[in-house]
Amino acid sequence: MVVLVVVGAQWGDEGKGKITDYLASQGDLVVRYQGGANAGHTVVIGDDEYRLHLIPSGITAGCQVLIGSGVVVDPELLLREMHRVSSSGLSLEGLHIAETAHVVFPYHKLLDQLQEDLRCDDRVGTTLRGIGPAYTDKVSREGIRMIDLVSGGSFAQRLHARLQRLEDQLSVIPFSKARLLRQFRTYGQLLEPYLCDASDFVLRALNCEKKILMEGAQGTMLDVDHGTYPFVTSSSPTAGGACTGVGLGPTSISNVLGVVKAYTSRVGGGPFPTELTGSLGDQLRTQGQEFGTTTGRPRRCGWLDGVALRYATRVNGLGMLCLSNLDVLSGFDQVKIAVSYEYQGAVINNLPPTAEKLAACRPVYETLCGWDADISECSCFSELPEAARRYIATVEEISQIPVALISVGPRRSQTIKRREVW
Ligand code: GDP
Ligand code: IMO
Ligand code: MG
Repeated sequence: MVVLVVVGAQWGDEGKGKITDYLASQGDLVVRYQGGANAGHTVVIGDDEYRLHLIPSGITAGCQVLIGSGVVVDPELLLREMHRVSSSGLSLEGLHIAETAHVVFPYHKLLDQLQEDLRCDDRVGTTLRGIGPAYTDKVSREGIRMIDLVSGGSFAQRLHARLQRLEDQLSVIPFSKARLLRQFRTYGQLLEPYLCDASDFVLRALNCEKKILMEGAQGTMLDVDHGTYPFVTSSSPTAGGACTGVGLGPTSISNVLGVVKAYTSRVGGGPFPTELTGSLGDQLRTQGQEFGTTTGRPRRCGWLDGVALRYATRVNGLGMLCLSNLDVLSGFDQVKIAVSYEYQGAVINNLPPTAEKLAACRPVYETLCGWDADISECSCFSELPEAARRYIATVEEISQIPVALISVGPRRSQTIKRREVW
């Protein structure tokens, strides 16, 4: 039995899609367990690039894929993505969708925008995909699930009740109930063939000795419980979310792989202690092509944050790391890793509990020699320059976990394996 959770160890965009595809090529089933179309996972195979938002990255490796019940599904975007994927020659035969996954409606996106507008200077910088409001409806028991779209009368009743409350809130309803009902019933019909009991589906795969990957979206520091609250998303990207987001007990999880970029990026608002706002930050953004996969926004960039990495190791129970984008650090005279923070004159080694305190922290860096060589064609550890190997060893010292995989470029083939992951 192998169930491997792939989790982002930073603020998202660590290269989870790339590494999920790489591992899926030796696996059987890939499950997305949380988030929604706020995610943007890029997979590059040869000259082909796929940008996935809701469909798990294993689709590119020909695996069975499952959108778990912890995901919030925007049916319109999903259908568009399915069309794109199948037009590019990939099969959708292995696609499954949890019947209990919650649905994102147009009013969720409207509320997302309105809430952001009200936040003024404290904007989270959401992706405006309706994620927060959809999860809010879920926990306040006003959500509508995929199964409801194909279950006759209850859908109309639930939608009516929800729109009524929207009218109470906004005085007007900018949507026609009849139209929404028709539109989402049609989506339901189109997606019905893919709906399944997700927990049972995964259990059956487990019983058949299948290799299962749980693909996280976003990252540890965006987790609603463990991230830099309130500058977070509204779901649980950390490893525990894989259990609740699928309906699988923690005793079934074999290991947790943390994907960590060799530096840090963040999209949207919130504290970022190692952020580089000058020319070094620009250099990282340019060399790393750091522009959002979902929104196209330039990503904020900075040095690797070892304090955040140690924290991610703890809250996810990481067993190993994939160090991604190491090639992007080529060409810097010196590279830095934050090993602790300085807060009001004192050195602290743990992540503070509030965004305000984190914003007031100054990173304490360990400075290492950089390297010039282009490492994007290196295929084994020994081919890497000495300084790059030293950098990897420092990441292992700080996190106290082994770097099992090193990614030196976006392509599936640009991956160095140091130890078995499966
Ligand atoms: P995800 O959200 O964690 O799946 O990451 P994204 O796909 O949003 O962003 C990662 C970006 O870096 C994508 O454009 C990838 O193609 C690219 N990428 C992934 N791994 C590497 C790598 O090792 N080196 C470089 N240069 N790019 C990478
Ligand atoms: P992947 O899976 C990076 C960020 C948004 C915003 C905050 C809340 O590609 O790593 P939301 O729309 O979720 O309510 O926005 O979270 N965010 C991401 N940042 N990568 C992502 O996904 C993200 N998904 C959400 O920018 O700051
Ligand atoms: Mg992304």
